[in-house]
Formats: sequence, structure tokens, C-alpha cells
Amino acid sequence: MKNLSRREFLTRSGILAGGAYPAMLAMGLLPSAPAHPFSMEGDGNGKQVLILGAGLAGMAAAYELGKIGYRCTILEARERVGGRCWSVRKGSVNTETGQGEHQANFDEGQYFNAGPSRIPHHHALTLHYCKELNVPIQVYNNVNESAYYFSEGKGALSNKKIRMREVHNDVRGWLCELLAKGIDAGKIDAAMSREETQKVIEYLRAEGGLDIDKLYKASARRGYMEAPGAGERSGRIADPYKLSEIISSGLMDPDFYNVAEYTYELQMSLFQAVGGMDRITAAFEKKLEGLIRLNAEVVSIHNLEQGVEVVYKDKGGKDKGEKSKGGKSKGGEQRLTADFCICTIPLPVLSNIEHNFSSDASRAIDSITYMQTGKIGLQFKRRFWEEDEHIYGGITHTNNQLTQVFYPSYDYLSGKGILIGYYNFNEKARVTGELSYQQREQLALEKGSLIHPQYHQEFETSFSVSWNNTKYNLGGWALYSAEERQTLYKALLQPDKQVYFAGEHLTYLNAWMAGALESARSVVASLHARVTGQTISYPVSAG
Ligand code: ALA
Repeated sequence: MKNLSRREFLTRSGILAGGAYPAMLAMGLLPSAPAHPFSMEGDGNGKQVLILGAGLAGMAAAYELGKIGYRCTILEARERVGGRCWSVRKGSVNTETGQGEHQANFDEGQYFNAGPSRIPHHHALTLHYCKELNVPIQVYNNVNESAYYFSEGKGALSNKKIRMREVHNDVRGWLCELLAKGIDAGKIDAAMSREETQKVIEYLRAEGGLDIDKLYKASARRGYMEAPGAGERSGRIADPYKLSEIISSGLMDPDFYNVAEYTYELQMSLFQAVGGMDRITAAFEKKLEGLIRLNAEVVSIHNLEQGVEVVYKDKGGKDKGEKSKGGKSKGGEQRLTADFCICTIPLPVLSNIEHNFSSDASRAIDSITYMQTGKIGLQFKRRFWEEDEHIYGGITHTNNQLTQVFYPSYDYLSGKGILIGYYNFNEKARVTGELSYQQREQLALEKGSLIHPQYHQEFETSFSVSWNNTKYNLGGWALYSAEERQTLYKALLQPDKQVYFAGEHLTYLNAWMAGALESARSVVASLHARVTGQTISYPVSAG
């Protein structure tokens, strides 16, 4: 076949006549398109937008506004960007109210994600920005049947670490047996035909691993006492736990039955940024060079007749190259004005900042509750959970203060590693958060070593974060009752004159990076519609 010129090839394949895009993409003639584009008509014509907070919402808003002709300045109280999207590494510092600064002493290259650590596969916008900003992602192993259930001080299986696959299969087996026998004996009136009844029983036998008599007997699904191998080693299966033992130890209580993969967000596949979630914030930061003022703590926000005025305290430290915009200095305080403001400051923090918002907005800011939550990263000399216990990623669940222990889903079989020694919520997080950094470490080691005695030998150093006590956060994420969604939530979805509110707290994706990103886009669309006099409904489809 004769060689075709590129033009000839394009013409013959009908590419120039229409449907050209995929083919040209395949030929490498076009850069790959964003997976989830955000296209808007019109230009911001240099209107100034002051963005409060260089977390994901603030940075995504500045990034998108910058593309359509707005001039943005971001004020960030910390000396780093990212907010809650934070990977703790050697030298990372946090300040908690009541006990001051805390510095991480992890080895070079070690890290844990103190905030978001997982990206659901349906959070298209988060994955979109990873793609657009060239942040490589990898699978996050959220569900691991090899991890444990550990019920401290309760019932027949107290203080016994039990592989999740054993409990899951025993519970499934026993319950399917109960149901199958009940249906068969006509004791359950399910209003089914004979044929349907047989189908259901067949299903229950398969689901529970029941024998021909509909009885649950342990199978290899729950693992082996002695693994199968060569020669005569056929493998040995342990007896199942009795349902009464499982119940008495609380393994059917809420501490455990909230099976991770049942939750929509936690169903595999999940992802993470390779090398730490802060790679996402770093990628945004790179796109916003010169626009971010670090160490800029907001003191007041005031709507003016036109525009908005923000006063902030310049705490000093290193700015990332932001050029002075002519703010007036007033005793360490700087004053900035702009046409609009996007405020992403977490509400418990905003509640302590002076403003002249409407009473509805003000009430919402003061009343919306935030989750109390915390994590501790524990660095160990060796990855004993992998080497000794075949656990590669996933989560161990407990009924004690730890709540959960997370195994890293990266750098498998390398030398050292960081476990998340606890990730807890609500009252448990409140109590843990009141401990000193030292006491939290002791707690994590004492309780954790009940599950992994290797802790004693292998532990090196820790770093804990209580988000509810962390300065500039004062909470994990916003929590709403159904009623508050109709009142407090709605009060902040509208701009307060020239001030727009954004962040995970203004979405139904609370506690997720996708919330911050969706909210940023939604506010950008609304602001741009106002400036250009267009009607834009969010989400904006590709234009
Ligand atoms: N998004 C938070 C998590 O993954 C709640 O744990």
C-alpha cells in the first residue's frame, strides 16, 4: 500500500469532514482534552476577585477565574497552601489551640495524608484536575479482607484480632442459613411462588456458602489456619465463629457493621495522588504563581457600597512572589479592596472574623456544626503489617478510641512505613483531641500494640492532628441535618452582596475534595454570570 500523506489520510478517514477530534487525538495531533471541562463564554475584563483561603476551593476558583480574564489575589493564613488537603512530611508543622506548635520528625520520603486520603472513582472533578494538572494517581486499597476487626474488652472474642474475611463470611453464612431454613420451612411469608422461593434459596446457598442441606460450614472463603501448598499440604480451614460469639463481642454493632464497601463513596475503585495528596495542591499552587499571599490572616471582611474590603494581618514569613498590590499598612494590618470576594474560610474560623454580612448569613456561619475528627501517623522501622501479616492497604476496625487503623496503599514492601494509627470521629475524636501530642502517641501505641505487638519493637516517631483543635480549621467538615439544609445551608449558597461563599461546606459532598472543587466551579459560574450578564446554570456543560 502506498504511503498516504497526512492530509490524504485525514481526508480519506473522513476526519476533516467531521468527527475529527477522536481520530486526531489518537494520532497525537491534539493535546488530550480535560475529562470534565469547564467552559464559559465571555471575559471578566480584569475584574478583581479577592479569594480568602488557599485550600482546594480557593485555588480552583482562582485557577478557573484566571482562565477567563479575572485578576485574583488569594490570602492564606498559613505559611503553606492546601488547607485540609495536607500530607505530613519531615518538618511539617501544625498549630493546635491550647497546645501550640507540633513538628513532624518523619524520615525523608515518609508521609501520611492528614486530611483527604482517598478519591472515589465517581468524583469526576477531582480526577479531572489530577489529569489537567498532571498529577499522577494510583489505586487506593480501601477494602482489604485481610485487615482485622478488633473488639476490645467485649464478649467471647474480646481482644482477639480477627481477619475481616472470617467475620464477614461467618456472618453471611449464618444469616443465609437462618433465612434459607426459615423460607424452606414456610416460616417466612415472603409472598413468593414456589419457583421464586427455590431461586432465593439457591441464591442464599451461594451467598452464604451453604451446603446441600442449607447448613453453613466454614469454607476457604474465610481463609486458612494452614495455607495450602505443595505435596500433601491441602490447607486447613478453621471452624467458624458462632453467631452468639460474634454478637457478644459487638462485631455486629455499628463500630463494625458499617462495612466500608457498602458506602457509595468507599466502594472500590478509589484513588490517591502518587506521593501524597499535597501533590494536587502543589500543582494548583504552581499555576497560581504570584497570586497567593501566605501568612495573611484575615481580620475583617466588609461589603462596601461597591466592592469589598478585607483587612488582614501580615504575619511575615516568606511570600511566594506575590507582588504588592498597594495595600495600605496599618499597624501590621493590610487593607485590600476588590470587586468581589470568594470566602472559603471554614465556618468555625469565619465565625470569629469581623464582617458585615446579613443576619441570615451570619447565623449560618455561627451555627453550622463541624465534624470532630483526628488522625495520627506512626512511623515504623519496618512494614510488619505487610511482612508478617500480609496486609497491603485497607483498614482495621476497632471498638476502642482508635476506631480505625489505616495501612498505607503505597510503597509496598519498601523499608519503613507510616500507619495511620487512629482515624476517629465525634466524641472519640473530641477526647483524643484534648490529649497532649505525647499522650495521643501513647494512646495510639498502647491500643495499637494490642493488635500489632510489633509496635513495641518497631515504632519510631508520630505526628497527630486534631482537626477540631487545629488553628484555621476548627473542625473536619460541615455536618447538616435535613432541616439545616433548608435553612442555614441555603443562606450561604447565595452571595452576600459582593461576597461569595465556597468550600466543601457548600455542597452535598461534605468531607470530600470533590466538594471543594465543585463549589469553586459553582461560585465561579455564578460570579461570571453576574459580571457578564449571562444566564449560566452550574454544572456548565462543555461549550
Ligand atoms: N472523606 C472522608 C474520608 O475519606 C470522610 O474519610
